This record gives sequence, C-alpha cells and structure tokens, in this order.
Amino acid sequence: MDTNRKEAVKGYFRNKAPYYDLVDNQLYWSFSDDLLWELLLKEFLDPFKGKISNLLDAGGGTGRWGLRAARYLNSNALIFDISPEMLAEAQKKIDKDGLQKSAEVMVGDLDKPLEVKTEFDAAISFHNALSFVDDPKTSVENIRRTMKKGAPLAVIVANKYHSLYFSVLTRKFENLETNLKKSLVQFTDDVPPMHTFTPASLRTLLSDSGFADIRVFGFPITIYPNMEETSLSDNSKEAISIFKDEKIYQLLLGIEKEACLNEEAAARGNMLLAIAVAC
Ligand SMILES: C[S@@+](CC[C@H](N)C(=O)[O-])C[C@H]1O[C@@H](n2cnc3c(N)ncnc32)[C@H](O)[C@@H]1O
Repeated sequence: MDTNRKEAVKGYFRNKAPYYDLVDNQLYWSFSDDLLWELLLKEFLDPFKGKISNLLDAGGGTGRWGLRAARYLNSNALIFDISPEMLAEAQKKIDKDGLQKSAEVMVGDLDKPLEVKTEFDAAISFHNALSFVDDPKTSVENIRRTMKKGAPLAVIVANKYHSLYFSVLTRKFENLETNLKKSLVQFTDDVPPMHTFTPASLRTLLSDSGFADIRVFGFPITIYPNMEETSLSDNSKEAISIFKDEKIYQLLLGIEKEACLNEEAAARGNMLLAIAVAC
C-alpha cells in the first residue's frame, strides 16, 4: 500500500469526523446497529460480562461502540484511532458523560505496534477499521499483542461478496475485477479503497494472527444499504418504505437476530462480524 492511501484514509475521516455520528439517525444504519447490539449481547458481551475490566476499541473513531460496550460491561475503555479528528469527537462524549476516569483516547496507527501499557481483557474493531488499514494481518497481530490470552475479540469488516453486489447496484462495474482479484473495493469516489473479506479469508486472517474459537457471522442478511446510505444523513426510498413501519422493523429484527447466528448465512451479510479468542 502506498503512503497516499494512508493520507487519503486520514483525510476522509478528517472531513467526516464532525458529522460521523449523524449515522445514528439513518434508518438503515439504526436497524443494523440495533441488530449488531443484539448479536454482541448474545455472543460477546454477556458471555464475558464481569470478566472484562479493560476494553480496546481499535479504530474506534468517535467511540460509538467502545464507549457503549464499556458502559454495558462497566469496564475501562481505550479508543485508539489514526484520526485525531474522530477521536476529538470521542473525547467530547467522554467529557460530556464524565467518563474521564474510565475512558481515554489515543492517536495511533494499527499498522504499527500499539504503544499501550495495558493488557486488554477484550478488544473490538468495528465498521471496517481493518478494511482501511494497509495490512490487515499486521494490524490484527498488533491488536492481539495488546490482549491477554483468552481475551475475546470482535471485528467487523467489509464482505467481499456483498461488495460485488453493491458495485453492480451502483453500476460501478469497473470495481468488480479489482475486488475479485485483489480483494479491494472503492464504494464511492471519495472513500479510499477498502480490503474486502470472505467468511473463509476472515477466518484465516484471525487464525494466522493468533486467534482461536473463531466464528464468522454476516449481518444484516435480509436488507442492504443503497447509494443514499453511503452518505451520513440520507435514506433510500427502500429504507424509508421498509423501516417506517415499526411492525416490519421488529419483524425483521426478530428474524435477523436468529438467522444471522447461523454461520451458513455469513456470506449473505452486508458486513462480516467475527468473534474469536486470543491464544
Ligand atoms: C468507518 S470508521 C469506524 C469507526 C468505529 N469503529 C465505528 O464503528 O463507529 C473507521 C475508523 O478506522 C480508523 N482507521 C483507519 N485506518 C486506521 C489505522 N491504520 N489505524 C487506526 N485507525 C484507523 C479511521 O480513522 C476511522 O475512525
């Protein structure tokens, strides 16, 4: 990977940072987040609750997930990210919620060894942080080195099969070959190229980087984002027509939270979620 890509990633999140949390108001992403929370409770948070006192959020951005998970676990949290602007938003939340004693931010690059003093009881890396790094294997190994043996990890990355579909949906046919051959995709013109993974390649990445008990899920598996959902504030007409009906919202959430736990459905997911344990 060239240095231009790293600068492009930093520049992209520099511009997005002040608006990034608007994603909470988008119908599709609210659904995806509600579903993710249900999956996390069942597969990651509740099984380890009471055993986690320090959580690393690697590529944690504005702290949306690290702070939420740490609050639920009653644990400390380190939000680690390459973007000072994204972390500035996380710091605002820490200050607003009076979490200065339990949560902190740190600027750093996952492609390099993390200069942290804590050995973490758990780590998360959500929403494509590992798709934006230069070398996912180096980054996952760097995360593992900060974790205690037996500590759980949850990661969310871009699904190669879904991104092939999305390139067709958005008529970006020129993306197909690069994705097939190099596992890289550029969803929109302003977003830097992202690494994509299949359930099998994500499993291999984690096992080659020192993790065991690996499970790979896809989510959501019945509904997908449109072009409008790549912005931070727009809603597609499909999302509006499906999610404005609370009964349908709850129906789909109920179906998804069961069906996504079937690993057979992983390749159908908009994103891939892997849960594993550090060896
Ligand atoms: C799409 S955001 C996701 C933020 C957060 N994990 C979430 O789920 O809301 C991806 C994050 O990865 C960070 N990132 C990208 N490359 C990185 C790197 N090499 N080291 C650390 N963070 C990185 C970006 O700055 C950005 O905050």
